[in-house]
Amino acid sequence: MPSIKPLRKAVFPVAGLGTRFLPATKSMPKEMLTVVDKPLIQYAVEEALEAGIEQIIFVTGRGKGALEDHFDISYELEATMTARGKSLAVIEGIRQRPGSPVYVRQQEPLGLGHAVWCARDIVGDEPFAVLLPDDLMVGRPGCLKQMVGAYQKVGGNVISAEEVPDDQTHRYGIITPGARDGRLTEVAGLVEKPAPGTAPSNLSVIGRYILQPEVMRVLEGQAAGAGGEIQLTDAMAQMIGDQPFHGVTFDGVRYDCGDKAGFVQANIAVALEREDIGPAVRSFATGLLR
Ligand code: UTP
Repeated sequence: MPSIKPLRKAVFPVAGLGTRFLPATKSMPKEMLTVVDKPLIQYAVEEALEAGIEQIIFVTGRGKGALEDHFDISYELEATMTARGKSLAVIEGIRQRPGSPVYVRQQEPLGLGHAVWCARDIVGDEPFAVLLPDDLMVGRPGCLKQMVGAYQKVGGNVISAEEVPDDQTHRYGIITPGARDGRLTEVAGLVEKPAPGTAPSNLSVIGRYILQPEVMRVLEGQAAGAGGEIQLTDAMAQMIGDQPFHGVTFDGVRYDCGDKAGFVQANIAVALEREDIGPAVRSFATGLLR
């Protein structure tokens, strides 16, 4: 097998309109919605840093200024926090390299595949991760770190996967499975949002990917697919057979925070696990359900 190139870069597509979350997302980026006290995007960035990512690349669009400010210096706030002996630790982590993170613009929201392609000049000729911040992944180690463990063994393209019920397969990209080895499944095919009853398995693709740079060339010439959008799944499907391609079933819980019910569930679950507010939330919820 050719040598496996290290994974250093991660792309965060954050240029979507978040229409399912209106009116909250009219003037606020969906990725800045908070689960308890932290924006979704920060959970995803922390997960990437834990997995060893060195360069953070955001694909943004108009109206996403709050997101850029979140990862910049806030002089007043930081002076106050420092005076109180506290810091904004994770944000420090990505500021260690001046000029970082990198922002590229997706001028029109033409789909996830198109958003990823907008980062092609920064990604260059290296493997890269893609993290969709509205999928909040709760696991130890984090989802991307679990995937990096598999990538270091098999190389190529590695996508995160989750079993979904039969009546949900039409909402996801679905894997046609090849050989399985524990949580690792060879990907023999991919189909985006199969019509009900036609899915090749229950294994759905969720919002974490490790991809080889060749996918950018595939995306370059790609026409719109399901929903009139340029689909990342369609581009990935074209690479199967040319490069190793595996799914890793996530050992943890995924919350679909792009969906209102999923977002509320994430808030409850994360709050219950917190040492500071967990007991109060638990006793409130127990009383509510009595
Ligand atoms: P979604 O399809 O969940 O986001 O894309 P959306 O389009 O903003 O949401 P709805 O359906 O209108 O409510 C998943 C991720 O991909 C990004 C989104 O910002 C989100 O983080 N995305 C999607 C882009 O960056 N560009 C696009 O053209 C589409």
